[in-house]
Amino acid sequence: MKKIQISPSILSADFSQLGNEIKRLEEGGADMIHVDVMDGHFVPNLTIGPPVIKRLRNCTKLPFDVHLMISPVHKYIEDFSNAGADIITIHPEATDNLTESINLIRKLNKKIGVSLNPDTKLSVIENILDQIDLVLIMSVFPGFGGQKFMPEIVTKIKNLKKIKEEKKFNFDIEVDGGINFNNNKIVIEAGANILVSGTTIFKENNGNIKKNIDLLKLV
Ligand code: DX5
Ligand code: ZN
Repeated sequence: MKKIQISPSILSADFSQLGNEIKRLEEGGADMIHVDVMDGHFVPNLTIGPPVIKRLRNCTKLPFDVHLMISPVHKYIEDFSNAGADIITIHPEATDNLTESINLIRKLNKKIGVSLNPDTKLSVIENILDQIDLVLIMSVFPGFGGQKFMPEIVTKIKNLKKIKEEKKFNFDIEVDGGINFNNNKIVIEAGANILVSGTTIFKENNGNIKKNIDLLKLV
């Protein structure tokens, strides 16, 4: 059983203090930093790009778990790699050739993540599961923090875990969107080993990041 890791989303951080917020997350025990990149095209919101990530890179040694909600995504992969991304997660709906994008991320020596929206079936990625390091299961439609967890995705996590065990794959299963103290145990028991959270980590228990991270990973 893989250790449960927490990847706090900086989308819910104070954007005027991003460097300090990342340091707070590291001090609070985060395992990596989830960086939500949005282009206002693939999702109806705009956030940050490579120049900002490049500046944030020196604020922490923690891995940058970069979630690219942009399309077309292929031509920007190298920019995010150069900016300091450690895990580059793309949406299959955002590239004309998923295998080509996966091969590019591998060539750049970065961890390869593929993300599925709540309405995208596992079958879309079944034939590339042997080539990737992480599957990001969205439990909300991407674009904003603070949305309500969609319980129907728990079955998707269970089915993915079943395929992973049957085929002896080793990819991480990350879940993202509306994760809180009422659903963290459910998604972990279903098979998720990395939990993304923004609102819960920054807002609960008067913003006590360490307490919220420990509670989410059932410490
Ligand atoms: C949504 C992002 C998520 C989001 C998580 O499009 O991909 O990472 O920021 O935030 P919460 O935990 O507030 O749902
Ligand atoms: Zn995300």
